[in-house]
Amino acid sequence: MPATGRPCLILGVESSCDETGLALVSLPERGAPQLLAHALHSQIDMHQAYGGVVPELASRDHIRRVVPLARQVLADANKSMADIDVVAYTRGPGLAGALLVGAGVACALGAALGKPLLGVHHLEGHLLSPFLSVDPPEFPFIALLVSGGHTQIMRVDGVGQYELLGETVDDAAGEAFDKSAKLMGLPYPGGPHLSKLAVGGDAQAFDLPRPMLHSGNLDFSFAGLKTAVRTHLVRLGWLDRPDLLAAQEAQPVLANLAASTQAAIVEVLVKKVLAALKSTGLKRVVVAGGVGANRSLREQLDRACARRQIRVHYPELHLCTDNGAMIALAAAMRLQAGKATLVIEPSFDVRPRWDLAAI
Ligand code: KG4
Ligand code: ZN
Repeated sequence: MPATGRPCLILGVESSCDETGLALVSLPERGAPQLLAHALHSQIDMHQAYGGVVPELASRDHIRRVVPLARQVLADANKSMADIDVVAYTRGPGLAGALLVGAGVACALGAALGKPLLGVHHLEGHLLSPFLSVDPPEFPFIALLVSGGHTQIMRVDGVGQYELLGETVDDAAGEAFDKSAKLMGLPYPGGPHLSKLAVGGDAQAFDLPRPMLHSGNLDFSFAGLKTAVRTHLVRLGWLDRPDLLAAQEAQPVLANLAASTQAAIVEVLVKKVLAALKSTGLKRVVVAGGVGANRSLREQLDRACARRQIRVHYPELHLCTDNGAMIALAAAMRLQAGKATLVIEPSFDVRPRWDLAAI
């Protein structure tokens, strides 16, 4: 940790996908890191017309947003560029071009200010984000990482001590939400839209598979679920028929299909987390990543864990999806744990594919 005699000020830059996130975290010599300010620009509206993230558009938009957002967090925290001690950026995994924007800006800032850089693993950011909540967890715990691109169960013994216990062999849970939602004619990103549509729907109405529920390990598979949703829509005659999907009389049936899809995803996630708790004997769970915002997942996991005297921790709702706060926080916690590799020379790299258990 740079010795300044005052709390270390960390700027966090997130640009791995379709959100530009900037944040300032203060790391006191003793005690927990404090979030001073964070600002976010979501590109969802821009990508919605294409039904998914267009990588080239994402990179260009990050370029437009990152400096104004950096200025905004500095103003919000009443700090200046010169106060920054460390510039942290998402080094991976994510879209290569999008990552390069954040890394490039972070590197330029570091060089201009003469301050070190710290490349952060995006999933470590998600994993540690509940430490910014009012009820932070304690190590060790089981982490359920459920984002748009990853579904993993990890054993977490401390900062940088991550053991992968299971992961998806094909689609991520977020992808299962997004792809099923797209088939139902819902806008991108489908997860929140599908879960809204599911309210009031009958989760038993459609018989959908619970893939790998009894696989005997902690791996997941969600690709078959999307195919099953597709098959039901073919039977209904609604596949690729936006006119029929938008019709008033289709809505109750779609609500049932959405509720059934959500129930299948949530049941598998909850049961695998319970199996991980049982096999490790741990008594604490952290849920992180965009799908962690799902209400049904929270309700069912809370209920199942309450019965077993197991504590469940979530990030604040607004910090479930991608943001800069989790990147600055992960940098702070690594610095505090003496596990940060600070880079001084003005050079950087990104890792579009990067295994969290390997860091
Ligand atoms: O962690 P995240 O913001 O980005 C990645 O790192 O991928 O996760 C985005 C994913 C998307 O698949 C999105 O549909 C899903 O999180 N998501 C949800 C909800 N909010 C976001 N899925 C289900 N229910 C939600 N409420
Ligand atoms: Zn993410």
